[in-house]
Amino acid sequence: MLASTLQLGKRDLAVDVVVASVSELMDETAPCLSEVERERIATIRHEGRRAAVGASLALARLVAARRLGVAPLSVPLTRRCSRCGTTDHGRPIVEGADFSISISRSIGWAAVALARGPVGIDIEPLSRTVAGSDLRPVCTPAEQDWLRSRAHPAPLRLWVLKEAIGKALGEGILGAQRWALPLEAAGELEGRLSGTSPRGEAWSATLMPASAAPIVAAVATLDVS
Ligand SMILES: CC(C)(COP(=O)(O)OP(=O)(O)OC[C@H]1O[C@@H](n2cnc3c(N)ncnc32)[C@H](O)[C@@H]1OP(=O)(O)O)[C@@H](O)C(=O)NCCC(=O)NCCS
Repeated sequence: MLASTLQLGKRDLAVDVVVASVSELMDETAPCLSEVERERIATIRHEGRRAAVGASLALARLVAARRLGVAPLSVPLTRRCSRCGTTDHGRPIVEGADFSISISRSIGWAAVALARGPVGIDIEPLSRTVAGSDLRPVCTPAEQDWLRSRAHPAPLRLWVLKEAIGKALGEGILGAQRWALPLEAAGELEGRLSGTSPRGEAWSATLMPASAAPIVAAVATLDVS
């Protein structure tokens, strides 16, 4: 398990990030999941995906439980969709907590981020090649130009940054073509990036340093006072 704390944004907000492999969470996953989560996971047919979703939800409960000082099953973990208002999908929320949470998974891996303000994390397998057709709907014309001259893993790195920022904004990847990464300043997307959403929210994001895990990870926060 890899736990780290990053400082992000104008106010150097602390973001706690935990990345774990599905296999190291194996023993802890089942006892940490609620009835509703178990039922949801049972409907996932792909074995690797089912294990990754279960592990990521267990990790979210374990990390939030440690912060709250309660048992994992007592963490009031819910969802809220900013588009349709439903509670069966959308941004994860720990009801009543003084921190925000974000969850991501890819086959074999789970990741969770906690921060005082809105937070987003995304992980993808390093082996994933992102097609131009996947990226076009979520990129600005300038981002599409930038991508044209770049090979793997640059498109994947751009993708995880956009997903992490989209999650911090509470919208996910939908609408990500309406705000841009500062590519001129960023060069190859290294370091801390910042920008503003169409609603005027100031976001900050960074790719996580390469680790032994074969994944690409990005974390984002919104500036809060
Ligand atoms: C959310 C999204 C970024 C997920 O990306 P992904 O790479 O497929 O999956 P990840 O494992 O990285 O992330 C999934 C997690 O993102 C979180 N998430 C979902 N929607 C979110 C949102 N709007 N904002 C922040 N986080 C969100 C959830 O925690 C979800 O896991 P959970 O449901 O088990 O809690 C992407 O699917 C997306 O943008 N979807 C938008 C769909 C939408 O808004 N539809 C409208 C329906 S009314």
